Amino acid sequence: MVAEIISGKEVAKTIREELTVKVSALKAEKGIIPGLGVILVGEDPASVSYVTAKGKACEQLGIFEETYKMSEDTSEADVLAKVEELNNDPRFHGILVQLPLPKHIDEEKVLVKINPDKDVDGFHPMNVGKMVVGKASFLPCTPHGIQELLMRSGNDPEGKHVVIVGRSNIVGKPMMNILVQKAQGANATVCMCHTRTKDMAAMTRQADILIVAAGVPEMIKADMVKDGVVIIDVGVNRVGMKPSKKDPERMVADLRGDVDFESVKDKASFITPVPGGVGPMTITMLMVNTYESALKSANE
Ligand code: GUN
Repeated sequence: MVAEIISGKEVAKTIREELTVKVSALKAEKGIIPGLGVILVGEDPASVSYVTAKGKACEQLGIFEETYKMSEDTSEADVLAKVEELNNDPRFHGILVQLPLPKHIDEEKVLVKINPDKDVDGFHPMNVGKMVVGKASFLPCTPHGIQELLMRSGNDPEGKHVVIVGRSNIVGKPMMNILVQKAQGANATVCMCHTRTKDMAAMTRQADILIVAAGVPEMIKADMVKDGVVIIDVGVNRVGMKPSKKDPERMVADLRGDVDFESVKDKASFITPVPGGVGPMTITMLMVNTYESALKSANE
């Protein structure tokens, strides 16, 4: 079996096209332009590149976006004050504080400060709680994007054995909570593996759908999966530099997933590539959440 590629790039393009139409309708009918306020503290290269990509996506879709860049040594009080300012600014329907924050800032305190109605990342404890009990809330963008990828590639998780590797608050834990719900696009039997799991391969071999967000380059090999498995690879690991395909004179980051693509591609039925798999979906779902927030405010 040669795995079919689930292209996040293609699915994201389709969702963005659908969204562009909705954003212009909201503007034409209600005079509302969805707005996203982004707070970036410091200059971590991965964070800067995410934030730049978010800005570009907003521009393409007609969503108003403003990024507030704060220096690495900004005090916690100043970050909290900026969040409060955006909470009170009606131009913004969504607020995103790029993570991770510098060590001297308490992430928890900052996330709690965001108005839950503008929490398009879905990280506020109020929204986390709603997600756990299955109430409508903003869903964290990466796991929400993975659910879309599964559904739109014809891999409804209902009744399937889903194994998740990695228990982060951003991906693994929300993914587990989304997929166990009694709801469309969910109803799965979910198993969570992590760094203290005794026999990882014994668990991953049972997966009908394997979702890997462990941050360990190419850790999943062919002998760890069963024939016909659907694999979602969330890993984005920079393992070095390589010449660019377009311009071999230029060096670009060599990105690898958490799954050894070459080793598993003849065993899986579906697989997401890295890059071009889960990555484009995260930003797209952020756009969806920002639009939904604006729509909600229009209807209030
Ligand atoms: N850092 C890495 N991924 C994310 C994300 O989805 N949201 C935020 N706020 N920060 C991140």
